[in-house]
Amino acid sequence: MNLAGRHLIDPNDFTLEELQEVIDLGLEFYRETKNYSNLCKGKILGTLFYEPSTRTRLSFESAMLRMGGTVLGFSDANTSSVKKGESIADTIRVMDDYADVLVMRHPREGAPRLASEFSTVPVINGGDGGHHHPTQTLTDLITIQYYRGEIKNLRVAFCGDLLFGRTVHSLLKTLSRYPHMNFILISPPELKIPLHLKEELLENPQVEIYETSSLEEYLPQIDILYMTRIQKERFFNEEDYVKLKDSYILNQSKLNHTKKDLLILHPLPRVNEIDYDVDDNPRAKYFDQARLGVYVRMALMAQLLGVTDQC
Ligand code: CP
Repeated sequence: MNLAGRHLIDPNDFTLEELQEVIDLGLEFYRETKNYSNLCKGKILGTLFYEPSTRTRLSFESAMLRMGGTVLGFSDANTSSVKKGESIADTIRVMDDYADVLVMRHPREGAPRLASEFSTVPVINGGDGGHHHPTQTLTDLITIQYYRGEIKNLRVAFCGDLLFGRTVHSLLKTLSRYPHMNFILISPPELKIPLHLKEELLENPQVEIYETSSLEEYLPQIDILYMTRIQKERFFNEEDYVKLKDSYILNQSKLNHTKKDLLILHPLPRVNEIDYDVDDNPRAKYFDQARLGVYVRMALMAQLLGVTDQC
């Protein structure tokens, strides 16, 4: 399989075999990082972040630097010529001369897809509005693979903002392509997954979905609990956010009757939906997940840049 020159905008842009290839290479990079410290020597990553980010932007930067490449870009569109009214198309036409691979985060859904249409170098979606976040999905998948050894036959619960949560949308769509998955969707009624997504998931007769507003109801049966924050920035008014922000708080006592090999994941940042007392529980893997995100992004960029023949 050859991913060289491709874009990654939606996790469905890659087949399951292609996703697996990225995950396997990411695990190799995790184990033997030093062997690949010159893999991207001479390559430049361009970061175009029109929205705040810690993990996505900096793990991409860390990934490129660990492979011997360099990085340029902006983390605040207000410090770029976007502030003067420059279009995405013009920004990309310029940036693809300055960098060999681009990662873009944008509040508008579809912006990275538009960018890919004007770019002569690979464009990676670093998160677009409430739509997709495919490299977070790769991060989630590599974590599941690392701890469970395979991705199938799992009962996965998603909890929190399932309406606007792009990490949830991307991971749900992707996991539904794996064998024998069933999903527990835990949210307040106001933040249920979009109907179109639910209908799309249920087109696969193997997929089972249970919706509930209770965090406790299914906890003892769950293999993976994917917590998410209620996202203040997606609400139109403060009052609605305040009403929902404390809907779910996972703490130690709630974990008493859960499976011993339960994985608690979270794309982060966390606000208050996981108590700090959970961090020391062996089931809590969200910081390991953020760490693995660097290596899977190394693997992704190496493949899109076509340098993996040296691996
Ligand atoms: N998970 C994630 O996308 O985190 P950042 O918003 O910090 O990039």
